[in-house]
Amino acid sequence: MTAAAQAARVGVGLGDRAYDVLVGAGLLERAGALIAPFARRRRTAVVSDETVWRLHGQRLTAALEAAGLAVLPVVVAPGEQTKSFAGLADLTDRLLALELDRGDLVTAFGGGVVGDLAGFAAAIYKRGIDFVQIPTTLLAQVDSSVGGKTAIDTPRGKNLVGAFHQPRLVLADLDVLGTLSDREMRAGYAEVIKYGFLGDFAFFEWLETNGAAVLAREPVALSRAVTRSVEMKAEIVAQDETEQGRRALLNLGHTFGHALESETGYGAALLHGEAIAAGQALAFRFSAAQGLCPSQDATRAAAAVAAAGLPTTLADVPGHPFDALRLLGHMAQDKKAEGGRLTFILARALGEAFVAKDVDAGAVLDFLRREGAV
Ligand code: GLY
Repeated sequence: MTAAAQAARVGVGLGDRAYDVLVGAGLLERAGALIAPFARRRRTAVVSDETVWRLHGQRLTAALEAAGLAVLPVVVAPGEQTKSFAGLADLTDRLLALELDRGDLVTAFGGGVVGDLAGFAAAIYKRGIDFVQIPTTLLAQVDSSVGGKTAIDTPRGKNLVGAFHQPRLVLADLDVLGTLSDREMRAGYAEVIKYGFLGDFAFFEWLETNGAAVLAREPVALSRAVTRSVEMKAEIVAQDETEQGRRALLNLGHTFGHALESETGYGAALLHGEAIAAGQALAFRFSAAQGLCPSQDATRAAAAVAAAGLPTTLADVPGHPFDALRLLGHMAQDKKAEGGRLTFILARALGEAFVAKDVDAGAVLDFLRREGAV
């Protein structure tokens, strides 16, 4: 059996907007045949960034052309600053210049920035055009490419303007992870371990044993980790597409994490996955401090995060010591905060997260100070 034939197929059950996520090696080479059914006009605009396009653009182009699809590349600058109103205006203008219409297809080929930006452009371009995702980072494969969240950032915060727009297909090619830096792998791993923390204790235990193999991109371990993550994401999204309830669990670690990202400037000093790693360890310790979760679970959670070379304390994050009130201020801005009430994803145990509304700001402040904020 070829590697391509072994790709796992995970369905996202959303009725007439249902789609598949394929996870496996060699999917880039099969992309033409897989995407062709969604490209009614036998062409696709491929939105990518300069780095991904340089590394993998030729292979994807050859695969699409071999299936009779014309490729219209739209290559943008890499980095979070592209996910802005200016970046969106530039991208939609370039799509208009290509004279794409509603029968056409956008292919988002890159990490989370490209997926979020191209997905949002597809959501609003001529009031909506189909798109497919080919995520090229671990983080995008296990999280951002699945579930239809698309957005740009504004100076007031990340992902504040966006839309739900589900892709028609997601191709998670494990081979492209071979060119990721170890640091990017670790950052993506923070979102993998999140699935164990939030709802699958057996997966968490498996990661305790096999996390190093996943990070080393050992094919069997990597495939299992990405597939299980995508299965969990697909199941949650199918139940709660627009985050009225359970989907919020996917934000475990994100309230603390976003506050740290805001303080560190959303740049190379602290990658999103690193912030989320520390955020998850903090969420477990806060849960334990509130008497909601056994403290040994919080200790074990932090040990698993640390074993992957990820931060687990405020002191591990550049910029320490943080101002506790400023961190709290960022948390109050969080998209999950409603009417000034703080919402956190907390844990009752490893593998058992829940949505905690109305969390007491004073308790958070005390906790942050005990964790070393000033
Ligand atoms: N990344 C969280 C979600 O898709 O809901």
